[in-house]
Amino acid sequence: MNDLAGKHIVLGLTGGIACYKAAELCRALVKEGATVQVVMTEAAAQFTTAVTMQALSNRAVYTSQWDAREANNMAHINLSREADAILIAPCSADFMAKLLHGRADELLSLMCLARPRESVPLLIAPAMNREMWAHPATQRNLAQLRSDGATVLDVGSGDQACGETGDGRMLEPHELLQDVIAFFQPKVLAGQQVLVTGGPTYEAIDPVRGITNLSSGKMGFAIARAAQEAGAEVTLVAGPVALATPRGVRRVDVKSASDMLAASVEYAQAATIFIAAAAVADWRPTAAADQKIKKDDSGRPPTLGFVENADILATLAQSVRAQSGALFCVGFAAESHDLLAHATAKRIRKGVPLLVGNIGPATFGQDDNALLLVDAAGATEIPRNSKLALARLLVADIARRVAH
Ligand code: CTP
Repeated sequence: MNDLAGKHIVLGLTGGIACYKAAELCRALVKEGATVQVVMTEAAAQFTTAVTMQALSNRAVYTSQWDAREANNMAHINLSREADAILIAPCSADFMAKLLHGRADELLSLMCLARPRESVPLLIAPAMNREMWAHPATQRNLAQLRSDGATVLDVGSGDQACGETGDGRMLEPHELLQDVIAFFQPKVLAGQQVLVTGGPTYEAIDPVRGITNLSSGKMGFAIARAAQEAGAEVTLVAGPVALATPRGVRRVDVKSASDMLAASVEYAQAATIFIAAAAVADWRPTAAADQKIKKDDSGRPPTLGFVENADILATLAQSVRAQSGALFCVGFAAESHDLLAHATAKRIRKGVPLLVGNIGPATFGQDDNALLLVDAAGATEIPRNSKLALARLLVADIARRVAH
């Protein structure tokens, strides 16, 4: 994907050991399609070099407001006017204090102060020792920076370069990349609480065996990510899959369809949108054996009885909240053939305003898919694309429907 294609980012580095991560961040931003202009403070140059950052960004690095390469000798104006965003990573405690006071005695702080605030957002990725992070002065500065309009990204937690453990280290480059991508997505679901189910379910036969299906969970996880990027608070009820949790998403792991139903009913109480992307097992063994079922000498396999699982989507679509219009329900249909006919019938059977049809065998486990959106008025195709791109289009479509 080229999620940052066309974006020009000024990447500011200030003094801190996390500068070693800024090199990888720079590379990740470029790989995602952004052009990156690096600006370093004198302190940052103690931790990494302009040579490294120039090689990674493919642009000469700026370190001084007296840089004579600019014809008008106004690097602070020229660099900030071209940017789609200024990202300071790492942002030291000292630099935060500087920004807060509007100080401007070197190029990076001068550029931040001189930027057009309406069109050039400022993102900061703090990086410091846990005591510095927890200090009331830092926390006070953070709050003030936020109210001055800066976007303050989270800090990580764990082992610190100083040997201590706690909050304050800079996020990892891949986490910062996701946050920057999310920052640029339109906030069409701001204020919404989105509940998503994703992945397969696992119905135990005995302690070592069970019944599941080929769903990879990728579509549900992509939808959760897209909804979070669009500004929603997202809960993802996930069947057993090994996928990474999208940033900022609350994940609730479940195994069986019954567990998924219980979690969905619980979290739907606060939700405004429910998207059922999970491939829920239709049946479960009547009773799971407590112990492993052993072969006997008869040569006959054991007889398994099945009962039907409750339909999570239909249950929530019939809930008081959905019926009163407080919960907008979206279903999926995984079919192997006759997609339009099956999806149309399934939408009515499940009682949902929108159903997303796809061909299960063609998409399970893949990174791309094609969707058919079916509502009361008819069907619209969303052509084959990556699951994340489809998820963003679906989220935009749902946002339009919810807004009406
Ligand atoms: N679904 C659900 N609970 C179930 C079964 C399905 O919530 N017990 C949801 C799925 O998450 C999906 C939609 O219902 O959003 C349709 O799932 P699908 O497996 O395509 O259809 P089924 O209802 O199982 O019907 P069939 O197997 O007959 O196609």
